[in-house]
Amino acid sequence: MPYKIALYPGDGIGPEVIAEAKKVLEAGGADCAFTLIDWNTTLYAKTGKCAPDDYLERLKDFDAIMLGALGNSANAPDHIAVQPLLGMRRGFDQYVNVRPAVLYEGVDCPLKNKKPFDIDMLVIRENTEGEYTSLGGRHYAGTPHEAAIQVNYFTRMGTERIIRYAFEEARKRKRKHVTSITKSNALIYSMVLWDDVIKEVAQEYPDVKWSPMLVDAAAMNFVRQPEIFDVVVCSNLFGDILTDLAAVIIGGMGFAASANINPTKKYPSMFEPIHGSAPDIAGKGIANPLAAIMSGAMMLEFLGDEKNARRITNAVQSYLKESSIKTPDRGGTARTQDVGNDIIARL
Ligand code: NAD
Ligand code: IPM
Ligand code: MN
Repeated sequence: MPYKIALYPGDGIGPEVIAEAKKVLEAGGADCAFTLIDWNTTLYAKTGKCAPDDYLERLKDFDAIMLGALGNSANAPDHIAVQPLLGMRRGFDQYVNVRPAVLYEGVDCPLKNKKPFDIDMLVIRENTEGEYTSLGGRHYAGTPHEAAIQVNYFTRMGTERIIRYAFEEARKRKRKHVTSITKSNALIYSMVLWDDVIKEVAQEYPDVKWSPMLVDAAAMNFVRQPEIFDVVVCSNLFGDILTDLAAVIIGGMGFAASANINPTKKYPSMFEPIHGSAPDIAGKGIANPLAAIMSGAMMLEFLGDEKNARRITNAVQSYLKESSIKTPDRGGTARTQDVGNDIIARL
């Protein structure tokens, strides 16, 4: 039976990069049956909705979802456009957001004197709570007294399960180290709970070393000495911010893949590039599709087709090492499709 995949290209460069990911998955021998999900801000402009009200119901029986990107402020306010994305993460309890950042051979690193694989980190971002909740409100709207409250909550269960996932991942890696991103000098409730929980969980993993790091210092160290990081575990917002930084030090937004995972497999997991819809280059056919392609490989691996996942990852690495075909974000003149074609030729 083929894997049932919901292909959800979205807005902007989403459809451009997802087309390449699909092409590579098919050429790579993945047994996938794709269903096109045509929800985006164009639908919003026509109907006032970015997705049907029952979108979770419609998606829940797929094996996985491949998302491009959501958002086009010309058609819809951003916080409405991205609602289905956040809704899937929460509604399908995709509590782990896995965001690897590896500096591959052949890629220009903006940092000085970095060799391939000097940067090889796995960011594990909490994906269902923390700073990202839809709890709160606006009060005294439009008056000088107007107030906005955005509730930020951390549960013991949510904190514990993401930290445990990070330790499990660290255990599988060579360096077996977890950096816990915190801000407990200022956020004295949420982050002190986080610190308490990690101390408890760490006792179950005597083979894994860990250390805490304040988020501001972590931002500095991603630039100053990214080689010190192995597994990095962080809250929802900290993980969002740090992984754009991680993307840029491994070559750019076009390189960063991600997986939104429900480890229980009760609901589908979702795979997507970290980048957005890139309105500045959308429609030009020049987006770098690697992040989407690598997200496809992460999807195959998660679904159990490790062999084809590895084939695709190997073809991407061979492309990066040897090919002169580069999209403009890498200083070249190649088009999105040329990259997909080059990778397919190497499969
Ligand atoms: P962005 O990631 O879309 O773009 C940031 C910069 O990176 C731009 O200069 C863009 O051209 C470049 N870039 C991004 N992806 C690229 C690629 N594949 N190849 C080459 N260059 C690439 O972030 P933004 O501009 O802050 O957001 C644009 C829109 O996307 C907003 O509506 C935002 O809400 C949305 N967004 C959606 C997602 C998502 O759906 N997962 C993620 C982030 C942002
Ligand atoms: C990401 C994106 C989303 C996030 C947005 C689009 C809501 O930036 O996946 O990194 O903040 O999680
Ligand atoms: Mn982001």
